[in-house]
Amino acid sequence: MNIKITLLPGDGIGPEITETAVRLIRLIAERYNLIVDYSMQPVGGASIDEFGEPLTEQVLKECYDANAVLLGAVGGEKWENMEHHRKPEAGLLKLRKSLGLYANIRPAKIFPAFVDASSLKAEVLTGTDFVVLRELTGGIYFGEPRGYDDSQGWNTMSYTKEEVDRIVNMAFAMAKERSGKLTSVDKANVLEVSQFWRSRVNEIQNKYPDVALQHMYVDNAAMQIVRDPTQFDVIVTSNMFGDILSDIAGMITGSLGMLPSASLGDQYALYEPVHGSAPDIAGKDMANPIAMLSSVAMMFNHSFQMTQAAEIIEEAIERSLEQGYRTQDIYSEGKELVSLSKMSDIILHNVEKL
Ligand code: IPM
Ligand code: MN
Repeated sequence: MNIKITLLPGDGIGPEITETAVRLIRLIAERYNLIVDYSMQPVGGASIDEFGEPLTEQVLKECYDANAVLLGAVGGEKWENMEHHRKPEAGLLKLRKSLGLYANIRPAKIFPAFVDASSLKAEVLTGTDFVVLRELTGGIYFGEPRGYDDSQGWNTMSYTKEEVDRIVNMAFAMAKERSGKLTSVDKANVLEVSQFWRSRVNEIQNKYPDVALQHMYVDNAAMQIVRDPTQFDVIVTSNMFGDILSDIAGMITGSLGMLPSASLGDQYALYEPVHGSAPDIAGKDMANPIAMLSSVAMMFNHSFQMTQAAEIIEEAIERSLEQGYRTQDIYSEGKELVSLSKMSDIILHNVEKL
């Protein structure tokens, strides 16, 4: 199989974790006889420095040409005071919108080795394994009109039937594959856009009689995730609510440095760690490569239907943790503190052995 992967290392720790990802992809490619064509392109601050904008048409074209896009992270203090549409974040939003990546999958799964690293008690956390499915190209992030002047600021939260239906259909299908439980999160007690969302979810439920559906208000959902995360399996929600809930979900698992994500559309797919660019540790060989390597696993799974390769990567990560290796963000006493490159070597070595 011939595949093309566009790599967007981005800013901060992005480049160093992307380098590790390439090593992993090479290893898997060798094993499964893949011929991989890589295209490495700037995005975010890196692109601003070079071209004055966070995502150029040329880079976008390289993404349209690829079978999958792998992104490190974008953002940093240096670009924080730029105009709104020139910030690194604007590049990411444009990328999502242009590639039609309407579904963002963020798993919140607890590794047994980490139960003690969470801010929640072990007994609350044990058994947590759910997915936040976040709508990614609509809602208040993209709604018009938007703007601000001297006396007010405004945004618009709106959803069309098509936008709600495609993400909700995906959510039901995902819930059916998993444990058959779906939670749709909204603010229907206040917002009309949520009432509309809810009515679409109820309608679509008719197609999935074997999925147990519950609706939950977003404030309650935030509370429930911290109170008893094991009650959830698939959570589907709008863009901004999903942004917030997926951070909470990420935090309770003990380290944001562990969590991968996939952003999928009908034609394109982008994979990236949930964590950000971590400028404070950038270039110091300290970052945790796990979220990135796990994003590579998601890529093989979703974009190339290589479930076995994905399982091998996940297994190698778990094994490395069981062997006691930890980067600084997940370090605890009695474990072996290692650098990014050492952690990567260990994980890749475990991949080779599996
Ligand atoms: C995320 C980030 C982005 C978002 C920012 C960087 C635009 O917080 O991926 O969750 O809000 O979607
Ligand atoms: Mn976020």
